Amino acid sequence: MNIPLPELSLVALIGASSSGKSRFAARHFRAPEVLSSDAFRALVANDENVLDANEDAFDSLYFVAGKRLARGLLTVVDATNVQPSARKRIVELARAHDVLPVAVVLDVEEDVLVARHEVRGDRPFGAGVVRGHAHDLRRSVRNLEKEGFRHVFHLRGAAAVEAAVVERVP
Ligand code: GTP
Ligand code: MG
Repeated sequence: MNIPLPELSLVALIGASSSGKSRFAARHFRAPEVLSSDAFRALVANDENVLDANEDAFDSLYFVAGKRLARGLLTVVDATNVQPSARKRIVELARAHDVLPVAVVLDVEEDVLVARHEVRGDRPFGAGVVRGHAHDLRRSVRNLEKEGFRHVFHLRGAAAVEAAVVERVP
């Protein structure tokens, strides 16, 4: 799938843990364009897995995102974004800065997610959490336009994620 992105976009990557969001972001965007919840947890709490730092981490992430959008800089939110409340904040932020909220859904097969999760040493939670993300994603994916995303790119399966091409458009 070709993913044309206007420069004035706030891009939400949406996908379970181990769906490949961070890898996708590193492959298709410049490092400063990508704001990841892991990086912000590490900034505010020294450790990307301190989950009680979530509120501070996300407040900081959206603050920085707002500063970037005010400069007209395309910004990517690398977080699971499988919860409607997380996506609502992204849509509101995009609207506040008059940029397009764009959803890129990494809808990877659940067995692939779990297999990847099992071999990761950096995620101290069980596969049940990953399955929970996949469940939340399935419930969400049909409603993204209704939630306010102006473009929704639904990558169905790991092969589609792998094959995606991001194109920047004016
Ligand atoms: P969280 O940060 O936990 O939400 O996960 P994430 O969605 O950012 O996944 P990440 O990009 O960190 O990838 C998770 C694991 O899956 C890593 O070990 C990757 O090497 C592996 N992985 C991601 N994408 C692919 C892929 O397209 N093919 C293969 N073979 N492995 C992948
Ligand atoms: Mg990641």
